[in-house]
Amino acid sequence: MRLFIDTGSVAEVEEISAWGVLSGATTNPTLLAREHADPGRTICRICDLVDGPVSAEVVATDAAGMIAQGLALSSLHEHVVVKVPFSPAGLEATSALAEQEIPVNMTLVFTASQALLAAEAGATFVSCFLGRLEDVSIDSGETLQGIIETLHTGQTTAEVLAASIRTPQHAVLAARLGAEIATVPGRVLHQMLAHPLTAAGIERFGADWASRPELGEWMTKLVDGEVVR
Ligand code: E4P
Repeated sequence: MRLFIDTGSVAEVEEISAWGVLSGATTNPTLLAREHADPGRTICRICDLVDGPVSAEVVATDAAGMIAQGLALSSLHEHVVVKVPFSPAGLEATSALAEQEIPVNMTLVFTASQALLAAEAGATFVSCFLGRLEDVSIDSGETLQGIIETLHTGQTTAEVLAASIRTPQHAVLAARLGAEIATVPGRVLHQMLAHPLTAAGIERFGADWASRPELGEWMTKLVDGEVVR
């Protein structure tokens, strides 16, 4: 499973893209509105940093408006994927954009039947929101599994993108169920790093090495190319 970062923050992508784990990014109007930065510059900078698909969302609610906004967003950068909310107008816009070979991430998909329609309309990515399903007491794993099975057994090439990831366990669940992608907020990516045994292990290795100062000197010489092999 590939990992995207779900963010509107360039600083967050600058930090986390250095880990080498990101294949793309997703933004949404809420995330971009939080940043008080020029949205076009933010989207382009994130595109350069992740060097992969970056979803930028339309806010029109009619098909013509979605198509016009989608074409404009797509012109920002070659990595832009147009994010279109699920609705009849969204399906129409997805179909029109896909016909022009503009990739679409159909978002706010909460059932397998919606996912089927999104895929048939030509969406490249179908976004299922795990956290928001749980907000209304619906089993997100069961729903995601249904979407994955539905799309994977058909002829579609649409990829399942697990979104609204609120915990590391959500990301692991998405991978175990077979989602192609999970888009994960920076806060959760940081949580995925953490384990007390990892921190304790690093501290102990460091302390043991430091207890023999000549080993530190040897490592410095090795790095400087002064160790005879
Ligand atoms: C996905 O593309 C959305 O931007 C995002 O995952 C929504 O997450 P939320 O439900 O935590 O706002």
